[in-house]
Amino acid sequence: MRGALRVRKEQSEICDQIADDLVERGYSICEDFVESELVDDTRRLWEDGQFDYARVGQGEEKQRCPSVRSDWIHWLETQEFTDAQERYSGSLEELRLANNRATMMGIFEWEGHLAIYPSGTFYRRHLDVFRQARERKVSSILYLNQGWTPADGGELRIYLNGAELEPFVDVAPRAGTLVTFLSEKFYHEVLPAHAERMSITGWFRVRS
Ligand code: OGA
Ligand code: MN
Repeated sequence: MRGALRVRKEQSEICDQIADDLVERGYSICEDFVESELVDDTRRLWEDGQFDYARVGQGEEKQRCPSVRSDWIHWLETQEFTDAQERYSGSLEELRLANNRATMMGIFEWEGHLAIYPSGTFYRRHLDVFRQARERKVSSILYLNQGWTPADGGELRIYLNGAELEPFVDVAPRAGTLVTFLSEKFYHEVLPAHAERMSITGWFRVRS
């Protein structure tokens, strides 16, 4: 796009496109979902010690398991939203409505956390739903890494054919890219990052 005047689509158009992609193929990769005011915002919370290591499993069985995932997270709470998070939440609300119009999924809320993968960390292949809890319908990940290069690794690998290892698509975690996919359908993993990798990960949920 260098040298060209780039006109950004309206947020509502972008949301409709994502919803259409979800209907047609179950996942969507949108490269300019939001501006990057969340980058400094997230780094500030990290430097402020507001993250905890991510755990694996559910309820009482939640444990740190660095051979599976070694990132750090900060759960987002509506009452504690920063201004930037509040605006992002507004964009997600627009996406929620577009998605419900396109799919009748009946999504009623979004829950999520900030995530930081220090250099050398990863998240092995997994599904985002648990056998006993299937409220998560659509996974969403917004990346916050400016100047990310292929040498930095850390791609999200989405497996396109169930538990099969091929085919897959790799997504670079570049600032502004939003990936969404049907939580029950797509195995995915975070390849080892060679630079600090930031994101906001969350799930559109139906009522349990
Ligand atoms: C997750 C996850 C992917 C990513 O947190 O469940 O799969 O690209 N994250 O950060
Ligand atoms: Mn996941």
